[in-house]
Amino acid sequence: MRKILVTSALPYVNGPIHIGHLVEYIQTDIWVRAQKLRGNHCIYICADDTHGTATMIRAEAEGCTPEEIIANTQKQHMADFAAMEIVFDHYGNTNSPDNYAVCVEIWQALRDAGLVREKNVTQFYDPEKKIFLADRFIRGTCPKCGRENQPGDSCECGTTYSPTDLIDPKSVYSGATPELRDSVHLFVEIEKLHDFLQEWTQTGDHLQSEIANYLAGNFLCDALRDWDISRPAPYFGFEIPDAPGNYWYVWFDAPIGYIGTTRTYCAKTGEDFDSWWRDGSAEIHHFIGKDIAYFHTLFWPAMLKTAGFNLPKKVHVHGFLTVDGEKMSKSKGTFIRAATYAKHLSAAYLRYYYATKTTGRAEDLDLDFVDMAQRVNADLVGNLVNLASRTAKFVQPMGLSPQYPEDGGLFENAVAQYDTILAAYEAGDFAKVTRLVMLLGNGANKFVEDAAPWVLRKDPEKQRQLQDVCTIALNLYRQMVIYLAPILPNLAKETAELFNENASDWTFESIKTPLVGTSLNTFKHLMQRMDTKKVEDIIEETQAENAASETKNADPWNDSDEALKNEPLADECTIDDFAKVDLRVARIVMAERVPEANKLLHLTLSLGGDKRLNVFAGIKAAYNPEDLVGRLVVCVANLKPRQMKFGLSEGMVCAAGGGGKEVFLLAPDDGAVPGHRIH
Ligand code: MSP
Ligand code: ZN
Repeated sequence: MRKILVTSALPYVNGPIHIGHLVEYIQTDIWVRAQKLRGNHCIYICADDTHGTATMIRAEAEGCTPEEIIANTQKQHMADFAAMEIVFDHYGNTNSPDNYAVCVEIWQALRDAGLVREKNVTQFYDPEKKIFLADRFIRGTCPKCGRENQPGDSCECGTTYSPTDLIDPKSVYSGATPELRDSVHLFVEIEKLHDFLQEWTQTGDHLQSEIANYLAGNFLCDALRDWDISRPAPYFGFEIPDAPGNYWYVWFDAPIGYIGTTRTYCAKTGEDFDSWWRDGSAEIHHFIGKDIAYFHTLFWPAMLKTAGFNLPKKVHVHGFLTVDGEKMSKSKGTFIRAATYAKHLSAAYLRYYYATKTTGRAEDLDLDFVDMAQRVNADLVGNLVNLASRTAKFVQPMGLSPQYPEDGGLFENAVAQYDTILAAYEAGDFAKVTRLVMLLGNGANKFVEDAAPWVLRKDPEKQRQLQDVCTIALNLYRQMVIYLAPILPNLAKETAELFNENASDWTFESIKTPLVGTSLNTFKHLMQRMDTKKVEDIIEETQAENAASETKNADPWNDSDEALKNEPLADECTIDDFAKVDLRVARIVMAERVPEANKLLHLTLSLGGDKRLNVFAGIKAAYNPEDLVGRLVVCVANLKPRQMKFGLSEGMVCAAGGGGKEVFLLAPDDGAVPGHRIH
């Protein structure tokens, strides 16, 4: 039995868990569950990453303490993970006494090894908020292309620079012009560990080859730069015991949080801490995204090595999530929170879909909801659950046959895949797992098709045969579910209940022995088809959340000039020009989609009495017709009618926005009625 400690990166306390994060937490959870089902002693440790200026500023803005923010967010994060069937053995936070104790220990080791030295740092300082500003908290005009409002380290045009190069820099927090100030920082001379890092990263399979090559080509080919590890007050973090007024930079105590949280776990369970982190008897596996590979593969092993902790057996690096081929976007509604997803769709769908896309390599993966629905519906509903739903009810009264019948080798065929499937789990190649299991399902479904239990059922002479056919189908189903249990834990639990078993008693070995002679519990519907209408709801809700938080955060005296820039003012017109356009208040009395047109809704507008206008409006992406009926809008009532492919359009509704989903209908204030002219 192996002892395995597994971590995911510690999510920042300053935001909700979203579907990008879930790429990581779902794959780690699957890997851990697979280890547990093999019978290994495997624990999954995680925590919130709490320190840094952002937490301090947010606490100030919300009028509460950082500790309150930490407690609330931790609760929310834990609920989000639970909703996605992600289960930790312990989930803590980095602001804990246990973490502080380990920080002190590692710090002392770095000091003792002579790796810490002081250097003067000149940095931007916000004179209003009285804080030093990290690069990303400064914005200004790009020195290369002149784009305004660019972050302190790089511009949209691709130029990278230091924040002092920005023209007209401003603090993101106060809008004040930052000033340059000197302070003393503490640095770790990581170059002194160059040989060790060269060896550790390039040999021994600790890293995927693409990551080892990236480090060799970008960092290890030169002297490693000293690592700036302290921040002067005010900072929210742990104060450095031998450098009062200075705090450890968040990236020092964050990875130490893996160890600190294990201490808390051991205190809770009575397990021996040293057996996890000190004496080499456990394997340590980190799962992280490629953006933070640098911290985990250079600084982190250097710190562990210096302080005599176990080094990771493997750092598993994954790529980034795109949605429909693009970066997650707030305005497109694809920056989806875990909580919003889970409100509308089953965790099983996303877990399975991500599994089919997870290969154990550090490449990006795309979430395409149409593809996802097809995948889920074909594999989980059409192939897997179909086996049970077509047979369970027929053997409900009599139970499974007392002996496992002859099945032409199907059961043994699944047993023969054992080593291959377990190896694929170990390698993080869950795509392969799903492919192999679905192939088993194809064979099983063909068997059911040929044996036609629904025909046998009608023949009183064939009840033994019916029982045998269903016993075979259900055993093949059970094998598939156990193989997939790390990916679909909830389905596993419900399936075990169907068979009067406990999923917690299952190991992967359970696929090797057929289940016979048992009665079955009542068959419940195990999984429904994924409805893509729900995806629209999720996207709309995400856009609404985003709009709400943007309006809340907007600075009323500093509206962006982006809209004006995108569409400059038109040429001057006279009052007579304006009067030619007859704008009227109208009520939408009918709204329907035009199926053949991508953008159009067909509207009937009432101007009062029986005066109606027939209008085709390009607002399909932004509005559901059901939500429009009854609303007051502003329309151009004297527009020359135009014959369109779908009918005659006799007017226009007025709306703001850039088009697509960003269309905002104009509405008159309370009191206006249909027919009122707009002057
Ligand atoms: N707090 C640091 C990690 C400290 S570990 C000692 C951090 N937090 S994070 O919340 O920004 O990200 C947590 C993890 O989620 C990271 O591994 C990150 O790569 C991953 N992801 C965040 N957004 C992601 C996508 N859009 N796609 C895939 N993974 C992503 O980094
Ligand atoms: Zn630029």
